[in-house]
Amino acid sequence: MAKKKQTVIIDGRQVAADVKESIKKEVAQIIDRGEDGPHLAAVLVGNDPASETYVASKEKAAHAVGMMSSTYRYPADITEKELLEVIDYLNNDEEIDGFIVQLPLPPHIDEDKIIRHIHPAKDVDGFTPENVGKMVLGQPAFLSATPAGIMELLKYYKIPVAGKHVVVLGRSNIVGRPMSILLSQKSEDANATVTLCHSGTKNLEEITRSADILIVAIGKPQFVTADMVKEGAVVIDVGIHRLQDATAKKGYRLVGDVDFNEVAKKASFITPVPGGVGPMTIAMLLKNTLLAHKKEIYS
Ligand code: GUN
Repeated sequence: MAKKKQTVIIDGRQVAADVKESIKKEVAQIIDRGEDGPHLAAVLVGNDPASETYVASKEKAAHAVGMMSSTYRYPADITEKELLEVIDYLNNDEEIDGFIVQLPLPPHIDEDKIIRHIHPAKDVDGFTPENVGKMVLGQPAFLSATPAGIMELLKYYKIPVAGKHVVVLGRSNIVGRPMSILLSQKSEDANATVTLCHSGTKNLEEITRSADILIVAIGKPQFVTADMVKEGAVVIDVGIHRLQDATAKKGYRLVGDVDFNEVAKKASFITPVPGGVGPMTIAMLLKNTLLAHKKEIYS
């Protein structure tokens, strides 16, 4: 019997480090010319610990590549009107190239309304209807960072995508839906046949077993088990969860939406959690900030 090829564990930290290194070089060239470097801002409302951690990581990563970074913090009881005024201010501040509003927002604030208020040229998260629309039409746009990061991982590892059956689990605006669109685009790096699965999908396991590439962004710890995966499939795990574990130093361990240990035995390529997709998200946000500074999407 032919021996199974070794599974490749995709090293998102390494790929992100490469992307950030090339951003850092470009930022240094801008500053060497005597110009202001790119400036990323983040709006943080309330004190959700996960959001605090994400925003702190984004700020640290921006500084590491030589960018300026500012965080605008507001209490959880800020009114929607006040937050819209903050967005107006950032839209008009010429010193800031791009900004993000960290989600989720408190329930009394209409998230869609806030996102619609962000100027598309400063929307480095790629969440506004203008950028999503352009992405759908295949026009230059700020791309949502996580799906853009996954495209980058596939390219880096030279994983063939054209003509493959890609199954995406999850239809969120931030990950699943844009992922399905980017992969089905008529372009060199895409051209896949895509099936988008969600909570209403019937015969889910039958569909996942037919995937050449399986992208899981469903938000359920270790949801994808080995019996749901075809031998030799490429498995990309977007989930990140804390599982209680008394044997771990911190009392918990991080897991994804995929049962990594079992699925890795069947996969040809697989992303670990942590260290897979996660590091790419921030790298792509910095890439968007550089594009915003250079006015490459909106001149
Ligand atoms: N909350 C979780 N992920 C994200 C993200 O990528 N951007 C923003 N703005 N909020 C988030």
